[in-house]
Amino acid sequence: MKARSRRERIAAQLADLKMPGALKRLADFDFSFQPSIRREQIDSLHELGFLERQENVVFLGPPGVGKTHLAISLAVTAAESGRRIYFGTLADLIDSLEDAHAAGRLKQRLRTLTHPALLVVDEIGYLSVTPNGAKLFFQLVNARYERASTVLTSNKGFEHWGEILHDEVMAAALLDRLLHRSHIVNIRGNSFRMRRHMELSKAIHPTASRAANAERARKGDES
Ligand SMILES: Nc1ncnc2c1ncn2[C@@H]1O[C@H](COP(=O)(O)OP(=O)(O)O)[C@@H](O)[C@H]1O
Ligand SMILES: [Mg+2]
Repeated sequence: MKARSRRERIAAQLADLKMPGALKRLADFDFSFQPSIRREQIDSLHELGFLERQENVVFLGPPGVGKTHLAISLAVTAAESGRRIYFGTLADLIDSLEDAHAAGRLKQRLRTLTHPALLVVDEIGYLSVTPNGAKLFFQLVNARYERASTVLTSNKGFEHWGEILHDEVMAAALLDRLLHRSHIVNIRGNSFRMRRHMELSKAIHPTASRAANAERARKGDES
């Protein structure tokens, strides 16, 4: 009876998260496609010691390399271990903070977002942030600093976070807190989405891709 209600609680929390697409798991991640990732590092993060130590995790890399997948798989693992988690894109989180601010409820909103043992901030760098939004995000990071873990994903290197947040000094202070105790996973590789496109186009045009391969082989032979 008790086990069932715990399972239901976890399922409800996961259903509530508005995470993009299906729930992603570590077991669904193809490490052979992404050789720049150290598998031991990802496996060890999934043991969740970083949550106990209030450390952060930052996934960096170009689009499609699995940043959101791995952030979600960490969040799912944390939820299954009974921790409270929260998932949002940077834009969603800032929207919710701005709404709360306008309604005079910023303190409560910050408290709500500081409470979860794991907060995922997805997609830092895709959409531009207003200066006020950046300040609110800084307050959130500050509130969670050394209290609870944050997992972030970005397609932009840290040197560009000043541009993203429109404030180099604040970005430096934010990175100082985030990176003080953190694990950086820098993914240098090809987009998994493009792999799907390539496989699909091969399946649709098998003769064309065979011809292209033959052509490439012929050219290779000549040189
Ligand atoms: N190495 C991988 N193995 C299996 N699926 C992957 C891998 N990398 C990415 N994917 C899948 O490809 C899609 C794009 O990955 P995603 O994590 O959204 O990329 P990013 O956040 O880096 O842009 C998702 O459906 C994800 O599950
Ligand atoms: Mg992503």
